[in-house]
Amino acid sequence: MTKKYLITGGAGFIGSNYVHRLLKRGENVTIYDNLSRTARNIEWLKQEFGESAFNLIVGDVRDAQRITESAQGADVIVHLAGQVAVTTSVINPRDDFESNALGTFNVLEAARLSGKNPILIYASTNKVYGGMDDVELFEEPTRWRYKDLVNGCPETQPLDFHSPYGCSKGTGDQYVRDYARMYGLRSVVFRQSCIYGTRQFGIEDQGWVAWFIIAAVMGKPITIYGQTGARYSFCG
Ligand SMILES: NC(=O)c1ccc[n+]([C@@H]2O[C@H](COP(=O)([O-])OP(=O)(O)OC[C@H]3O[C@@H](n4cnc5c(N)ncnc54)[C@H](O)[C@@H]3O)[C@@H](O)[C@H]2O)c1
Repeated sequence: MTKKYLITGGAGFIGSNYVHRLLKRGENVTIYDNLSRTARNIEWLKQEFGESAFNLIVGDVRDAQRITESAQGADVIVHLAGQVAVTTSVINPRDDFESNALGTFNVLEAARLSGKNPILIYASTNKVYGGMDDVELFEEPTRWRYKDLVNGCPETQPLDFHSPYGCSKGTGDQYVRDYARMYGLRSVVFRQSCIYGTRQFGIEDQGWVAWFIIAAVMGKPITIYGQTGARYSFCG
């Protein structure tokens, strides 16, 4: 049976790839996105599946009323919309807070009030773990690895929000977990890091693997910021 999916940030890199997968298996999809990054993925989805294969709501997650109306009847909400660059969050922390912390709160309230107890999936970040200074690293010929965390961070890894982006995403992360405790919302938090792939329009501030490739192909210079061996990445 097909389900009704609401994908916030569905015009973005992760969102459009996921929407592509959902449409391929015949699901009912609504994208909710303010198109602040690019509309190119929407055009691609229309080319792939046709103009009317999905619903598009050009809306902002800061708009509580609009997102609440849009979430009515959804079986699954995948919340990917937000301000995505650490650098931008440092320059304009209020905008970052409003899109990520308040925006996620608005999506949670929309889910709670939707009357269907939807599944809610939230795209969090490894920035919630901070500098992880107590975690030992070692260098291999082609990469750095954690010495003890061979499978990555466990759920028991202490939280230590770093940067306005880390704080705003971490606020959303904790709210999403608490809505499961308080309201029985069936929510899942993914703490992702430096994802890359097709349909990612990387820029110097965010999506740096894609940006390196774009810059290399277009003959643009690549700037390396920070110190050698710095532990902090500037990717989502
Ligand atoms: N890509 C990564 O490496 C990575 C790592 C950790 C976490 N994340 C998180 O995953 C999610 C998706 O990331 P992505 O790489 O696909 O980013 P993206 O920039 O490609 O997609 C984000 C989408 O959200 C939309 N958007 C931004 N602000 C909005 C707002 N206020 N209201 C409505 N729409 C808005 C943008 O137009 C864009 O289409 C984000 O929440 C990001 O914080 C990504």
